[in-house]
Amino acid sequence: MTTAPGFVRVCAVTELEDDTPKRVDLDGTAVSVVRTAGEVFAINDMCSHANVSLSEGEVEDCQIECWLHGSSFDLRTGKPSGLPATRPVPVYPVKIIGDDVLVSVTQES
Ligand code: FES
Repeated sequence: MTTAPGFVRVCAVTELEDDTPKRVDLDGTAVSVVRTAGEVFAINDMCSHANVSLSEGEVEDCQIECWLHGSSFDLRTGKPSGLPATRPVPVYPVKIIGDDVLVSVTQES
C-alpha cells in the first residue's frame, strides 16, 4: 500500500514492541524500524563500521547500539555517538497513518 509518494507500508504500529527493532526489506534496502519514546524511527539496518545488522542491537534513549563493537547511532539523525564507527547511517522519514507505519527509502530525513 502506498498513500504518499515514495512511502510504503512496512508494518502495523501494534506489531512493534517498544525498544525492539524490526528488520524489514524495502526495495532491496534493509531497514530497522524502531518504536521508542512514543515515536517510530527508521534507520538503515547496516552499521557504517562493518556492515552488520543494527536490528540485532539494543535500543535505549533514542540510540541503537551495534552489537558487534558497541557504537551507537542516533535514531533521529543516524550519527554515531562514539567509536569505532565514524560515519552516519542513513535515516528515513516515517509516517503513521492509523495503525500503519509507512517509510520512504527514496528520501533520507
Ligand atoms: S560493526 Fe558496528 S561498530 Fe563495528
